[in-house]
Amino acid sequence: MNKLNSCKLQFPARSVNEGFARAAAAAFAALADPTVEELSDLRTAVSEAVTNAIVHGYRETNGAVTLDMTLYEGGLLRVKVRDKGVGIEDVEKAREPLFTTAGGERSGLGFTVMESFCDRVTVRSVPGRGTAVTLDKYIKGKA
Ligand SMILES: Nc1ncnc2c1ncn2[C@@H]1O[C@H](COP(=O)(O)OP(=O)(O)OP(=O)(O)O)[C@@H](O)[C@H]1O
Ligand SMILES: [Mg+2]
Repeated sequence: MNKLNSCKLQFPARSVNEGFARAAAAAFAALADPTVEELSDLRTAVSEAVTNAIVHGYRETNGAVTLDMTLYEGGLLRVKVRDKGVGIEDVEKAREPLFTTAGGERSGLGFTVMESFCDRVTVRSVPGRGTAVTLDKYIKGKA
């Protein structure tokens, strides 16, 4: 796959950066001439992944979140969200709808939302080392 463009961002795991990450992903995706709906789906999915890195990954600590964005020929946009936080013990279980480790505070729907707004979601995680969530979305545009 031919890369058309790429961008890497790193920011501290603070909730103010959820909005920043969402806007940055939308600005990067704009190069592919997306529809309003594609842009909105991407913003939502990136937001869920970044929020997870901040609230779960760095639950007890501070750290950095990395956003790696690549646009490929053919319209594939890949956004990788990485943290070096606590990691996930059981990724399969974590991806189940309504599964949450946050008690009554959260609904456990973040991964479900990412899956429904992207074409593919890949999760790699090592307990104690961190998590990488890769969101693949085809930007078809108006054509
Ligand atoms: N980056 C991460 N680091 C550590 N644990 C994570 C990470 N992302 C997700 N998890 C774990 O996976 C669970 C499910 O995540 P998901 O986003 O689906 O739901 P949630 O964040 O609990 O609730 P919601 O997203 O609806 O507010 C989380 O409760 C958490 O235990
Ligand atoms: Mg979540």
